[in-house]
Amino acid sequence: MKKTIRNFLTAAGAIAAIALACMPAAAQNKLTINADQGKDVISKHIYGHFSEHLGHCIYGGYWVGEDSPIPNTRGIRNDVVKALKDISIPNLRWPGGCFADEYHWMDGIGPRDKRPKMVNTHWGGVTEDNSFGTHEFLDLCEQLGCEPYICGNVGSGSVEEMSKWVEYITFDGESPMSKLRRENGRDKPWKVRFWGVGNENWGCGGNMTAEFYTDQYKRYATYCRNYGDNRLYKIAGGPNEGDYHWMETLMKNAARQMQGVSLHYYTVPKNWGDKGSATVFDEAEYFETISKTLRMEELVSRHSSIMDQYDPMKRVGLIPDEWGAWYNVEPGTNPGFLFQQNTMRDAIVAGINLNIFNAHCDRVKMTNIAQTVNVLQAVILTDKEKMTLTPTYWVYWLYKVHHDATLLPVQFSCNKYEVGGRKIDAVSISASKDASGKVHITLVNLDPNKEQLVDGELRGMAGKNISGKILTSPKLNDYNSFERPNTVGVKDFSGAKLSSGKLTITLPPKSVVMVEIGG
Ligand code: AHR
Repeated sequence: MKKTIRNFLTAAGAIAAIALACMPAAAQNKLTINADQGKDVISKHIYGHFSEHLGHCIYGGYWVGEDSPIPNTRGIRNDVVKALKDISIPNLRWPGGCFADEYHWMDGIGPRDKRPKMVNTHWGGVTEDNSFGTHEFLDLCEQLGCEPYICGNVGSGSVEEMSKWVEYITFDGESPMSKLRRENGRDKPWKVRFWGVGNENWGCGGNMTAEFYTDQYKRYATYCRNYGDNRLYKIAGGPNEGDYHWMETLMKNAARQMQGVSLHYYTVPKNWGDKGSATVFDEAEYFETISKTLRMEELVSRHSSIMDQYDPMKRVGLIPDEWGAWYNVEPGTNPGFLFQQNTMRDAIVAGINLNIFNAHCDRVKMTNIAQTVNVLQAVILTDKEKMTLTPTYWVYWLYKVHHDATLLPVQFSCNKYEVGGRKIDAVSISASKDASGKVHITLVNLDPNKEQLVDGELRGMAGKNISGKILTSPKLNDYNSFERPNTVGVKDFSGAKLSSGKLTITLPPKSVVMVEIGG
């Protein structure tokens, strides 16, 4: 009899063990959202983009020329404009990147066939014919309905050159530069607010010291004038990753002369010599990619705390205007063109970064993913007349709900995702309330193996009509090709339930989810 009971218990234990293995991870993800306690606004500019004269970003990506058989408006391709409008692109940074500090804007105005050519020394040594210049870029921004963010040349330019560029674009009265603009076909000035004073001046933008650049910044910024009612939001070239001395030097000596300071940090899974493939990686490399992405939290926090010392009222914005995953180029492509595929892993990288930026929206006022089309963590890939939207694109589409919404404080404790004895939080989260009173929660289950149950409480709001959208895919390295553009796409999500303030969300492995709760 005893033996029978023991056998039964053993069998029951085995069944329970099998059941456990098939079950979702225990619900240790505890969430509380206070829907009535938001304070800071998530600027829509956190969802900004960056496009450089690099590879096929500008040429082929946006610009095909007026005579192209690819449908275009004044030379700019219509399909790309429509796709970017669909994610409500708020701003676009241009012309670089490293290219900005060797770009001389006067070469890019006037009749296109008369514009001088130059060598793009940073990116493949190709000849740049300057057919896409100031007028074309500002036309692109008008077509997109987004704000331009122009980065001026400090590394190889002059104070006079930058000062004249501002005058050319924004001065309405009579002056040498406004006369030249009118001769080139544009009567009224454009509105340009975001103005970068150099790019990576610790590296490709002149290899300067923090002290030297800070003095240069003050010289250049002084002569970037506000004409009429155009008010420049001047952005100093900030630190590389964890260069806290650079931030300290700038903030201590030039905070009063700037409105923003940039930060550059890329997710490189392996190392700069061999960054890793965009599509071929194992779980250990995936874990490394995500761990390195999470470093953004530390960088933003630490740089913000330095900024707090010199700018406690948080007037100066921290602007991570280059971020994203950087892998080896696709085999057989020009190494100088930085063309890489974009998979479900990249969607997870984007979702995590954007949740981090939202959380710091009291200090982070704008960010720009690198780079919009055909370069690095692109949201769009093109090949001649073909276009495809990447998994990263769909994260921007899902996260549109956060644009200019109020960040909601969340208390969240969650399960860990563990590989080789190393552990990271399995879920990344962000919540906001929009102008109509709807609450939106974006969640990333970065664990590729386990479902996550989130047990939540919604306070400060009755909450009704819960719904959601999800981005996921069977494999982490799934991507959207021109032939199979819908491999990774958004679907309706039915895994969120709300009843009497109790919220439960079931997140499939490797997923990015957006939950909407009506007020
Ligand atoms: O985005 C590619 C390059 O990365 C940019 O030109 C430069 O600023 C950075 O090093």
